Amino acid sequence: MKSHCFFYKKKNYSIVSNGVVTKKSYSNIALIKYWGKRKNKIQIPMNSSISYSLEEVYTVTKLIYSLRERKKKRSIKIFFSGKEKTNFLPKIFEFFHRISFYCSYLRYFNFVIKTDNTFPHSSGIASSASSMSALALCIMEIEKKLDSSLKEAFFLKKASFLARLGSGSACRSIYPGLVVWGKHKSIKGSNNLYSIPYPYKIHPIFKKIWDTILVIDEEPKKILSSKGHQLMNHHPYAKERLKFANRNMDQLISILKIGDFPKFGELIEHESLNLHAMIMTSNPYFLWMRPNTLHVLHKVWDFRKQSKKNIYFTLDAGANVHLLYPIQEKKVIIRWIYSELIYYCKKIIESFCQ
Ligand code: PMV
Repeated sequence: MKSHCFFYKKKNYSIVSNGVVTKKSYSNIALIKYWGKRKNKIQIPMNSSISYSLEEVYTVTKLIYSLRERKKKRSIKIFFSGKEKTNFLPKIFEFFHRISFYCSYLRYFNFVIKTDNTFPHSSGIASSASSMSALALCIMEIEKKLDSSLKEAFFLKKASFLARLGSGSACRSIYPGLVVWGKHKSIKGSNNLYSIPYPYKIHPIFKKIWDTILVIDEEPKKILSSKGHQLMNHHPYAKERLKFANRNMDQLISILKIGDFPKFGELIEHESLNLHAMIMTSNPYFLWMRPNTLHVLHKVWDFRKQSKKNIYFTLDAGANVHLLYPIQEKKVIIRWIYSELIYYCKKIIESFCQ
């Protein structure tokens, strides 16, 4: 049996009725970034990645399902913050198409999806991770109603598997805390199909991390991550990037164990600049950073040198900056952020890395 078939169930469901399910799911910030997909595979990452889920940055999705008349086309409607969004439909139909083999019961229903984020829409914060994972959790909630024998561990595993088919990084949003996706030789249980909670020892300092997200550009990205992943297939430095990401994961495992925050910080800064270097050197090339991104990075380096505080940045696929630091140092750091960095940002979002 192929490993993905583990999630397939050949079943005829006898009690099928209308209903509503509601689920919440977090956004996440990757410490080691997923960048590039394996050729001719659906959403299989080139490298393993690890992220923190962000407690205050989440999506709540309500999925209303009603019995569909046989032979009639499936109808799906989607509402975001109360407004119907027909432009989201192609992605949603593609998602339902990809998962139909694993969730045969979906064929019985029409759907209305109502979704809301805690973070502002136009913040440049990727909402695909939290929204696709919330939708995947809703679908699993329907599966649970149809199959009462379904176990919690399977529920989460399959939710992560389904979320991955919607948006790669979404599969990490299923669990709180540090979450790994993608096979890595040093991480037991890690695999390409779904994420797992980080399985090794974590020093207490890494259990209380704060993330201040500086929203520098609210515009939607001009180059989407899906395009960026594709560009890795012919990237001249792709092989080196893979080695670098794999090595970083090995280093991170020991850093997380011993609790060396400066080493952790250097690693995540280096890793995020490496991701940006990939996009700058792909063909076509692109630059996600804005002038204010650079101002912030230099300010952080200067402040760190002079204050000796443990504040480090990571960047996702855009101009925004995530500042990570231990909660014990929050008081001083937050005061500095709001007095020195506010001018460079459109918005600031705060979250505990749970
Ligand atoms: O899940 P996607 O296809 O939006 O890709 C996410 C890519 C990064 O955010 C840059 C890295 C990551 O691992 O989250």
